[in-house]
Amino acid sequence: MREAIAAAAVGDEQYREDPTVNALQERAAALLGQERALFLPTATMANQIALRLHARPGDVLVAEELSHVLIYEFGGPAVHAGLITVGIRGERGRLTADQLEAVVGRSAYDVDQRATVLSVENTHNSAGGTIWPLDELDAVIAVAHAHGLGVHLDGARLVNAAVAQGVAVAEIGSRCDTVTLCLSKGLGCPLGAILAGPDDLMERAWREKHLFGGAMRQAGIVAAAGLYALDHHVERLADDHARARRLAGAWHAAGVPVDLEQVQTNFVQIDVAPLGLGRREAIDRLGAAGVGLSATIHETVIRAVTHLDIGDDDVERAIELVPRALGAGDRAGA
Ligand SMILES: Cc1ncc(COP(=O)(O)O)c(C=O)c1O
Repeated sequence: MREAIAAAAVGDEQYREDPTVNALQERAAALLGQERALFLPTATMANQIALRLHARPGDVLVAEELSHVLIYEFGGPAVHAGLITVGIRGERGRLTADQLEAVVGRSAYDVDQRATVLSVENTHNSAGGTIWPLDELDAVIAVAHAHGLGVHLDGARLVNAAVAQGVAVAEIGSRCDTVTLCLSKGLGCPLGAILAGPDDLMERAWREKHLFGGAMRQAGIVAAAGLYALDHHVERLADDHARARRLAGAWHAAGVPVDLEQVQTNFVQIDVAPLGLGRREAIDRLGAAGVGLSATIHETVIRAVTHLDIGDDDVERAIELVPRALGAGDRAGA
């Protein structure tokens, strides 16, 4: 990837003249099953621009209550798009068609504040990297479209979902009106994200990209990493998923509180409450043992992530070190 970055052909991206950015955008549009794609610095910017495409100030954004766009984007939906947000409590990051109907179907008059955009997250970060089954996604999208809502897919980790489900990324992406993809997560780029959608919306998105200060200059330097990742880092996500399953299974057997059904992609969440620990204490103990896990939004839950810098040896070491550091031995077999 570093060599691809060094060798990148570049131009002025603000004038749409960077050949590497243009190539990545074309490639990403096809990957995501959309007409056009826009290269952006971050997935947060992609989500925020998408909201402005689907809604006007005073409209309502509906999303699962722990979705990234609601809890981690610093109030962006209100700040950038002037939106009212309605969070729906989901199950493993998914809301149901009935739950959505109950929220968007209740406005009796055209003059009421109207829900105009639904954002779904796949895989779902705070739910532990969980995936949307396609039939459930279809059911929710059908309700959204029946009520005139645009559907945005926060697919920051969409490629993980597609690889885990054994379907083409486009098969999921094409179901939604706009799609965010992050290049700097499992795909392993230093930075970069994609927003994709139909031609007309993406032309508007181009203007929004300038407004957000996200129109860059010789951005081919980083777009080259994106092209490299799409060539080399897609199929290997299955290895990350297998390593996460190996970690989860071994930790569970050693008494570490892991919900095995939740481990669907590259995250393993551990609830440290049954071990009598707090989130911070657990992370500190693990850090002292040489294993880096991170906090989640949940008070007693910490998270391990497998990615291209984590190999089988690292996994085996973590299997050995983590139960001991968390004092999980007494619960083995629980
Ligand atoms: C689901 C989801 N969407 C969007 C983002 C934002 O990504 P970025 O850091 O590129 O802004 C994240 C980051 O963790 C995420 O998990």
